[in-house]
Amino acid sequence: MRLSRYFMPTLKETPSEAQIVSHRLMLRAGMIRQQAAGIYSWLPLGYRVLRRIEAIVHEEQEKAGHIPMLMPTLQPADLWRESGRYDDYGEEMLRITDRHKRDLLYGPTNEEMITDIFRTHVGSYKDLPLTLYHIQWKFRDEIRPRFGVMRGREFYMKDGYNFDVDQENAFHAYNRHMVSYLRTYERMGLKALPMRAASGPIGGDNTHEFLVLADTGESEVFYDSAILDLKFGDRAVDFDDKAACQSIVNEWTAPYARTDETHDPALFDAIPEERRKTSRGIEVGQIFYFGTKYSEAMGATVVTADGTRVPVHMGSHGIGVSRLLGAIIEASHDDKGIIWPEGVTPYHAGLVNLKQGDSAADAACEGIYAALAKRGLTALYDDRDERAGAKFASMDLIGLPWRITVGPRGLKNGVVELTSRRTGESEEMPPEAAVDRLAQIYAGV
Ligand SMILES: Nc1ncnc2c1ncn2[C@@H]1O[C@H](COP(=O)(O)OP(=O)(O)OP(=O)(O)O)[C@@H](O)[C@H]1O
Ligand SMILES: [Mg+2]
Repeated sequence: MRLSRYFMPTLKETPSEAQIVSHRLMLRAGMIRQQAAGIYSWLPLGYRVLRRIEAIVHEEQEKAGHIPMLMPTLQPADLWRESGRYDDYGEEMLRITDRHKRDLLYGPTNEEMITDIFRTHVGSYKDLPLTLYHIQWKFRDEIRPRFGVMRGREFYMKDGYNFDVDQENAFHAYNRHMVSYLRTYERMGLKALPMRAASGPIGGDNTHEFLVLADTGESEVFYDSAILDLKFGDRAVDFDDKAACQSIVNEWTAPYARTDETHDPALFDAIPEERRKTSRGIEVGQIFYFGTKYSEAMGATVVTADGTRVPVHMGSHGIGVSRLLGAIIEASHDDKGIIWPEGVTPYHAGLVNLKQGDSAADAACEGIYAALAKRGLTALYDDRDERAGAKFASMDLIGLPWRITVGPRGLKNGVVELTSRRTGESEEMPPEAAVDRLAQIYAGV
């Protein structure tokens, strides 16, 4: 993409309504625009990151054997009357009446709808295990939408639902989700720690939240610092292997890590004092096992091998896709702007032409741009007729992890500059070497 033809309305001034750094930076980088309280347009740069995050979620879910689909945003109220949640959900549910006076709602989550789909089409244990998921907009009429996309009213969420014949298999589905989430967040450059949590309106006792440590997080968390040393890496996982998944879950749930709702001071105090940590955290996901809560209420049953009919065991598993943009920025920025992890960056590299109109510089930039594209790498090419300082400032603000700087002086010696946004370190090298280096860096992402 050439910046001269792009739409990236960056702001010089810090918007006064934004209280936290991720919200300020998303507005300043021209990623989002608020349309109403907690409701945002995703401008091109923000939309690119949203799509990258979404793609990682899809890839990791499909690796775990979970099946993508898409349910609508609007749901009939009758389904929610069956589970009893139409009344229980309260003011957070946006209720709508259509022209025929039928009650609808903008879905805050999809347990009822997926259970309805299941009961209509599945009747035998032979069709299990089954895990279906979608990534769709949700609406919760939050009393205090704030912090930009972190607590929106309309937000984008991955929600998956497992259907299993018994508790043992449903626990395996729970473990599969925990394992796939660990890898999902790591690919986004995040440390998201699974913590024992409380269940809220979804119901159920077995639940973990995934929290990113950040001062601006809304949850209070207590943990053993030993959990910070764990790394998932790119180990191969056989998601059908129950024992293998369980052992990964054991590894991550062994160190104490709980939110304030489930915090147990006696257990916490048993940890060596230097490892006892209290902090704030941003909830970027949650997994639940809730057994037969919805299947019993809504008649979702299967016939087992011995011919009896039993309600299916279910769980639901969410990732806050749009919230993740805010969480990643909270975890990765400096005073100049955002620092995208390679896994989610909107463009792989920024290309800065120090002297637009200089024939050597222009030709070198075009060559690098094309060479990157050939390697499957995207560049945001700042081809505007602007001062170098202004170009560097916008690149730093939008936070592409790598920048190639091209100027007539370097080109006389056959070199361009490759700069890391994270460390600020620059290295001179021939243009082809810079392209090779980037291809190497991104090969491992
Ligand atoms: N208002 C919101 N804006 C953006 N993301 C949200 C919002 N509410 C929930 N999410 C994201 O969706 C994920 C799954 O939804 P879940 O039902 O667990 O939310 P929740 O526990 O009610 O969230 P919270 O406690 O933050 O209100 C959450 O882990 C979070 O990342
Ligand atoms: Mg939650």
